[in-house]
Amino acid sequence: MKSKTETGFSTKAIHAGQEPDPTTGAVMTPVYLTSTYVQEELGKHKGYEYTRVSNPTRTALEQNIAALENGTEGMAFGSGMAAIDSLFRMLNIGDHVIISHNVYGGTYRIAKTIWEDFRLEFDFVDTTDIANVKKALKQNTKMIFIETPTNPTMEITDIAAIAKLAKAEGVLSVVDNTFATPYLQQPLNYGIDIVMHSLTKYLNGHSDMVGGIVVTSNKKIAERLRFFQKAIGSILSPFDSWLCLRGTKTLAVRMEHHGKAAMQVAQWLAKQKQVKQVYYPGLPSHPQYKLAKKQMKNFGGMIAFDLGSLDAAKKFLKKVRLCALAESLGGVESLISHPATMTHASIPPEQRKKIGVTDGLVRISVGLEDVNDIIEDLKNAMK
Ligand SMILES: Cc1ncc(COP(=O)(O)O)c(C=O)c1O
Repeated sequence: MKSKTETGFSTKAIHAGQEPDPTTGAVMTPVYLTSTYVQEELGKHKGYEYTRVSNPTRTALEQNIAALENGTEGMAFGSGMAAIDSLFRMLNIGDHVIISHNVYGGTYRIAKTIWEDFRLEFDFVDTTDIANVKKALKQNTKMIFIETPTNPTMEITDIAAIAKLAKAEGVLSVVDNTFATPYLQQPLNYGIDIVMHSLTKYLNGHSDMVGGIVVTSNKKIAERLRFFQKAIGSILSPFDSWLCLRGTKTLAVRMEHHGKAAMQVAQWLAKQKQVKQVYYPGLPSHPQYKLAKKQMKNFGGMIAFDLGSLDAAKKFLKKVRLCALAESLGGVESLISHPATMTHASIPPEQRKKIGVTDGLVRISVGLEDVNDIIEDLKNAMK
């Protein structure tokens, strides 16, 4: 067999981190439902002591996703937010973070309502223009945290430019790669230090668990984050690790289909007179279309569109049948949501207005159902 770095994406997705079980030959990694591990004698064990520290099912998932991101170390947490919390925890009082202004509402919330109280400073800037990031740099800047595409208005930031700037300035660079997944873009390849994901979304892909992961090739960063796993305990359970491991095996085929279906839905939405604006990086009208084309394999499965008012959005969302009105994204089923009152409700109205999260904005995670059925559902709801 070729070495891990030579194998293709899907081969890695199916095999990386997973050897047949040495005791039984089971092809699929078992769910190691155990809190502890017997030790032969004092200080002599098989590499596992206690599941808060490590667990073979979680290790398999961590190695699997690290391989998909072309990193060497993966640390899985109990949610995407627990992963983000651990990243900010690496900083010290007085440190400054530059962060994309259009990040997931929960990321904004943890920064503003928890980490600012512990004296971290955050500047939310439009990272689609590298000049804004340069302007925001301060003596105490220690981290640049970007999300690309952003949730929900699908803004794209130039990953290579951020990596270059962060390296030149000696600050940590982080990409929240939840929307794109490593199938569409691998930020570490550009020189980014850290990639994080909400595993809850495309990596699991079946809306049946909540989790997060951080991937890096930097041993020092990994050591610190593993220490947080052990000391704080915000770890992913063996069963959730197993569910996600099952999901990553089909990531490539799912992302191919999500991308094709979303393109069709976005093109259809762009033709509807009720739709004021469509946010999808695969449409040439998107302001960062060229950049998205350059740095992403396809444009992903997420679309946002503006129906003009809260009333119009409300009426529309009441009438969808196939698309489930629910938070979250990235599952096999189509999910539809209203960012202003759901995923981004914790962002103050004036800030929401600034970043384009209007009351008429609707977000759709295009699932793997027949695309004609999805469009038919939207058509009926728009009538
Ligand atoms: C881009 C992004 N990052 C992080 C998170 C947080 O992940 P979780 O819900 O798994 O805590 C989300 C959740 O929606 C997200 O969309």
